[in-house]
Amino acid sequence: MREFTIAAIPGDGIGSEVIEAGLQVLQTVAARDGGFKLRIETFPWGTDYYLEHGKMMADDALDTLKRFDAIYFGSAGDPRVPDHISLWGLRLAICQPLDQYANVRPARLLPGIQGPLRDVGADDLDWVIVRENSEGEYAGVGGRVHTGLPEEVGMDVAVFTRSGVERIQRFAMDLARSRPRKKLTLVTKSNAQRHGLVFWDDVFEVIRKDYPDVETDKMLVDAMTTRMVLDPRSLDTIVATNLHADVLSDLAAALTGSLGIAPTANLRPERDWPSMFEPIHGSAFDIMGQGIANPIGSFWSAVMMLDHLGEPSAASALMTAIEHVTAHGNVLPRDLGGNAPTVQVTEEVIAALEGRNA
Ligand code: IPM
Ligand code: MG
Repeated sequence: MREFTIAAIPGDGIGSEVIEAGLQVLQTVAARDGGFKLRIETFPWGTDYYLEHGKMMADDALDTLKRFDAIYFGSAGDPRVPDHISLWGLRLAICQPLDQYANVRPARLLPGIQGPLRDVGADDLDWVIVRENSEGEYAGVGGRVHTGLPEEVGMDVAVFTRSGVERIQRFAMDLARSRPRKKLTLVTKSNAQRHGLVFWDDVFEVIRKDYPDVETDKMLVDAMTTRMVLDPRSLDTIVATNLHADVLSDLAAALTGSLGIAPTANLRPERDWPSMFEPIHGSAFDIMGQGIANPIGSFWSAVMMLDHLGEPSAASALMTAIEHVTAHGNVLPRDLGGNAPTVQVTEEVIAALEGRNA
């Protein structure tokens, strides 16, 4: 029997609620499949840990995580600690050193979900956003000097390297090629950011010669927001920098009904180190502890994890169960227009997996 080790890091806010739900669903999928087992270990890292130990994770966290096949992550962020501390101390402290450079964010209208766009149905909105996840605007390069003085300076430098740009664009090309429409849109802001993003354009010109079967086009990020809203059918796979894709993926999530369903994979395509899977929604402190968080983003992230682990039939069984529940529409969380608490949505997906609510 195949066995996979999963490091679960619920983190902050609703992270623990949605990861607990996700682990339950994952164990059901594994039991139903019968071909593999999941060995799960949960780590208490996050803001509570920080308030006790002065750091978001244990000192040997990375060495520990490297021994796992995958990481299942909840969220980082808590009002008791500034956001940049929790982000850099936990999530980025994992993705960057493990060089999970390809952040993959599917966005599509699930069956039964009415998004905010009139006359746009499931066939009209089916995208994958590929976010560069190791450098760019999140490189962490910059500084502040003359603090508090009138001359104070604050600087964040976006860093783009040829190897970094090339590998993410090739990754996006390969992904676009694997999808039925074989279309890739490059998003930049190379009219204004005339160094780093003209560099993105130049690299793209070279790379695309290796992919004659992939149809490509280019958009500036501001115009891209309009196109996503007004002409969603024209898009398929999208590649952009760390920050631009961060912004576009929130818009994409809203256009597919709710931030609560959107999944992410932080991939290390070389597979020498683990990849990390997490819902996009973040810690959502306003609804924490109420048991009403939408677990679908966490479930869909688990689908991506199963795919990455090489269990496509288990992945598709879970996706089908999620879609069964959204299509049915009688057990939906609040952000999707229902009133079902997290446990009930979870139970419904498990029932669908077990064929009990067909
Ligand atoms: C995301 C989130 C994070 C990011 C936040 C929580 C810092 O918005 O995963 O999209 O910007 O990367
Ligand atoms: Mg974001």
